[in-house]
Amino acid sequence: MEEIRVFCPATIANISCGFDVLGVALDAVGDEMVVRKTKTPGIKITKIIGQNLPLETKKNVAGVAALALLDKSDYTGGFEIEIYKNIKPGSGIGSSAASSTGAVWAINELLGKPFSNLELVQFSMEGERLASGTAHADNVAPALYGGFTLVRSYEPLDIVKINTPKELYATVIHPQIEIKTADSRKILKTNITLQNGIKQWGNVGGLIAGLFTEDYDLIGRSLEDHIVEPIRSILIPGFNEIKTNSIEAGALGCGISGSGPSIFALSKGEATALKVAQAMKNTYQKIGIDYDVHTSKINPIGIKKI
Ligand code: HSE
Repeated sequence: MEEIRVFCPATIANISCGFDVLGVALDAVGDEMVVRKTKTPGIKITKIIGQNLPLETKKNVAGVAALALLDKSDYTGGFEIEIYKNIKPGSGIGSSAASSTGAVWAINELLGKPFSNLELVQFSMEGERLASGTAHADNVAPALYGGFTLVRSYEPLDIVKINTPKELYATVIHPQIEIKTADSRKILKTNITLQNGIKQWGNVGGLIAGLFTEDYDLIGRSLEDHIVEPIRSILIPGFNEIKTNSIEAGALGCGISGSGPSIFALSKGEATALKVAQAMKNTYQKIGIDYDVHTSKINPIGIKKI
């Protein structure tokens, strides 16, 4: 194979209680990427359609992730990358993760899959380091593994794939402002109280148990964040109204998607997820905020060839 076209899914990181460790891949939103082998060594980004992002390899997250892979490979040729961006940078649904994972996954396919998923996560994390200053894996892991993932440990890196309940749907609304992950990380406190720690790890355990046993009520009860949401939600217009109205419309729970400003809700069944989307839209229309909204099945496989 000389060339491949891939779909790179958007992802929701943190999922309320799991800051930097939990994430899930979406089905309805994502980027596309074309990667082809070249005789010239190295990585060349030839085209970016849809967003204004740097073509220079070392300044582009896809380029940096691909270089991290090449550094560990004995392949002597190179690759050209075309990126078709549908996910807006700074929207909170894993724009940089889609680009970096798309590049390394596609290159791995073209090389005959010499690297494991875990190694691809490590290469992609270099893209996240460039984008946000921290090599977090909670967006790149679900993009590569599909479904829900847990970063059980960063040192050593240990990723656990979590079951996806069959009737679970996500709704995501993006108020049309940009929040850079680097900025929304800077405002966080570096210490937490034991009291909040107890609440948070109770919820992480509850959410994982709920996902495995397909206990939707338990999933809903566990979608709480006592550490990050109270700080970051201040940056998001209408956050509290969207949350209250989504839950009233039937959502199991609602929180900040990644570092925001997108807000996500999880629901049982598509009909409820669509009702939640309508409630979110009504809320932003009432307060006069422009938005994009998506309702999506959970994507069980992650990145794929198209
Ligand atoms: N866990 C990261 C954060 C995700 O919340 O900063 C960024 O998309």
